[in-house]
Amino acid sequence: MTTKILTTTLTLLCSVAVWAQPRQEITLSDNWQFSLQSTHNQSWETVSVPHDWAISGPFDKKWDLQKVAIEQNGEKEATEKSGRSGALPWIGEGHYKRTFTIPQGFDGHAELVFDGAMAEPTVSVNGKVAGYWAYGYNAFRIDITDYIKPGENQLEVSLKNLEESSRWYPGAGIYRPVKLVLTPNIHIDEWSICARTIDVNMQKNVANVTVDVNVENAKDADPNMRMILSLADAGGRVVAARSVVSFSNGFVSRTLPVPSPQLWTPESPYIYTLTVSILKDGKDVDKKSIKTGIRTVRVSKEKGFQLNGVTRKLKGVCLHHDLGPLGAAVNKAAIIRQIKILKEMGCDAIRTAHNMPSQMQMDLCDSLGMMVMAESFDMWRYPKCKNGYSRFFDEWADRDITNLVKANRNHPSIVMWSIGNEIPEQGSADGRLLSIHLQGLCHALDPTRPVTQGLDRVDNALASGVARAMDVPGFNYRLHRYADGIKQLPQGFLLGSETASTVSSRGVYKFPVETTDNSKYSSWAAGYDPTAIKSADGQCSGYDVESCAWSNLPDDDWRWQDDYPWVIGEFVWTGFDYLGEPTPYDEYWPSRSSYFGICDLAGLPKDRYFLYRSRWNKDEHTIHLLPHWTWPKRKGLVTPVYCYTDYPEAELFINGKSQGRIKKQIPQAPLSSPEGDTNVGKPSNEVVGGASRLDRYRLRWNEVKYEPGEVKVVVYDETGKPCGEETMRTAGKPHHLQLDVWTQADDGQWLLPSRQAQPSASSLRADGQDLAFVTVSLVDKNGTLVPDAQDQLTFDVSGAGTFRAVCNGDATSLEPFTQPTMQLFNGQLVVIVQAAHEAGNLTLTVSDKKRGMKQRVNIAVKL
Ligand code: GAL
Repeated sequence: MTTKILTTTLTLLCSVAVWAQPRQEITLSDNWQFSLQSTHNQSWETVSVPHDWAISGPFDKKWDLQKVAIEQNGEKEATEKSGRSGALPWIGEGHYKRTFTIPQGFDGHAELVFDGAMAEPTVSVNGKVAGYWAYGYNAFRIDITDYIKPGENQLEVSLKNLEESSRWYPGAGIYRPVKLVLTPNIHIDEWSICARTIDVNMQKNVANVTVDVNVENAKDADPNMRMILSLADAGGRVVAARSVVSFSNGFVSRTLPVPSPQLWTPESPYIYTLTVSILKDGKDVDKKSIKTGIRTVRVSKEKGFQLNGVTRKLKGVCLHHDLGPLGAAVNKAAIIRQIKILKEMGCDAIRTAHNMPSQMQMDLCDSLGMMVMAESFDMWRYPKCKNGYSRFFDEWADRDITNLVKANRNHPSIVMWSIGNEIPEQGSADGRLLSIHLQGLCHALDPTRPVTQGLDRVDNALASGVARAMDVPGFNYRLHRYADGIKQLPQGFLLGSETASTVSSRGVYKFPVETTDNSKYSSWAAGYDPTAIKSADGQCSGYDVESCAWSNLPDDDWRWQDDYPWVIGEFVWTGFDYLGEPTPYDEYWPSRSSYFGICDLAGLPKDRYFLYRSRWNKDEHTIHLLPHWTWPKRKGLVTPVYCYTDYPEAELFINGKSQGRIKKQIPQAPLSSPEGDTNVGKPSNEVVGGASRLDRYRLRWNEVKYEPGEVKVVVYDETGKPCGEETMRTAGKPHHLQLDVWTQADDGQWLLPSRQAQPSASSLRADGQDLAFVTVSLVDKNGTLVPDAQDQLTFDVSGAGTFRAVCNGDATSLEPFTQPTMQLFNGQLVVIVQAAHEAGNLTLTVSDKKRGMKQRVNIAVKL
């Protein structure tokens, strides 16, 4: 009898229960089961998410061997390409499953928020398909309210990566976080909050921030419910608030006047917290907080690109989404390291080429201060590769743009949307209509940001009206079309949406130094030398004199930016090397990653880093010499020396003997000469009046003969006053391994050679995710790098952490990133170790067995 009464009461309680607890957001990171097979007796491996199933390799050309013509590169005939998408096993199907718990009595709304899953994720709950998303790069939400039950629930995610679906390494798996969101039935829609700065009145010292919110099931709201919008400053003090008494139609829009606004800029990235609460009788029904910032963005003919009313030229880099040896799996420490390295160079913007960014990356761009052009597509209807996004465009493009904008529009770092990169339709009437449509969709969802796209066939895009239709006309390369292009652009300005594509390998220098577009390596290009690819070493010269048939050197872009106010900045291809697209060695195996990076795949700076730094970093001086000075086989041979510096003049000494005092000079040769087809024009190599295209931004001593010893440069300012010097020396015998540790806790210092962090100061968070990056260099007894060392090293990690990955930046290395052994590449590599979940001490031991060297570093892992 008692049991019966109890059961009846419980049933009654359950049926009338109204979930009265506040929203829960649970990140589903651990205890996923993963399998590559989908047979009955498949074997499962326990993994945590973010996860990239392909990054462990092994590298093999068979994974992504293709016989194709790369149309964007101007190729007409198909040739065999290896390593185009990284030569890693990302193609195929992957399956993930795990359980999650729904509290007893829950009768609210449940959804899963994926920040991206590669690719074509099908999401099932308790054996039933709950949703699907086509594009692997986008964030998406799945309403699972009708699929869940109290207690344990089974979640499954199936992924499918088709061959020839990407022009670079896409990664594979649930490579970005997944969140379970439980809310009451009446709740704030996850992505409906849109906070935007309407204006900033500096005289009145006030900014107006408009906030829109959608409330789901608002029609059921109790008349006593109220909504409060409140904005808190970085110290948590509420600086503006509004109360809303009625929201029965579900939509709320209010403007908050914010006194003494702290404006967001890359230099002072001030973050506010906006909280939206639905209250009843003083208690929270639902509540959601987001981070945001106050700032304005404008583009105009008169003032170019302006942030908070201040004109500035974008000093940006393009980044693919992979994190080198970590693959596509996002990681906070790795992204922080990337942003810090870029900021130290003076870079202030990232273009997320050519797809939607991760929330993690955007949160960090907000808090660390980095502007962003958030991109969407590499193709629309017309395919660039057989199984690319064109399969989905018609059905999915609007949904994809909608999610991109809705998921990201509160990030102050994002200053521009991009609806596409080098879209083949740019020359057609259809392309114009699609451009207007997609740009209009961005405007409808976010009226505050301008929209761009990267145009490469600029003549066609000008003729079709596509270039004129965009808020911001973006030119990819094509410097020789700038002058004519601007005359046809009513906007009155243009952006170098993709620039340079200069190629180099860290620590590799080729003689004689030859300024080249590398046509000799590509069977489709004019000037192709069939013997070149066979005798190639798969490396490009660190003198920064090599580009591609369609591209140019940094110096060429800068002449346009400096001489023409209507060029509003640039996004260099690329900030870091990435997996796949090993141009100019697309036809050479074993090249499997790019050469375009200003930094290599391990994140180590190439010489080019200092060239950009000398121009972009206005806070600190740069004095950088190249090449290294250890050339036992070059005694008496011409070995040019370059200095990358912001100073205008310098004198070079070899073992105390002056090699001359020289000044930067403005070249007289034309900016570029149109050659070949209308889309390929070459900057002129002519030397006029003693200066060539490379003499305006670099100091070069081209006739220096090598002798071992010491190279010293003394720099002078505009008044002729000596202001600093830099010295490099010939390395002696290998003496020891030097270990330099970077962690988030190192107060933002990353490792320029002159700024070594103290290993003892480093610490990691005991969260099972935090990473330390340890640069290993083989040096002589004075600490000079042994620049040709290729020793095989091994790594052992003990204590409170594990070995995660290693990378040496060599684009031709086939050693797997996730095995604890690797060769040095030109004296250096980077080992990545990961914190455990428990506090303690992590010890990394690096051994060079052949030379009998061993070096150890301890890193504290703290709760
Ligand atoms: C561009 C393209 C990039 C990359 C680059 C290499 O045309 O937008 O994705 O392929 O060329 O230079």
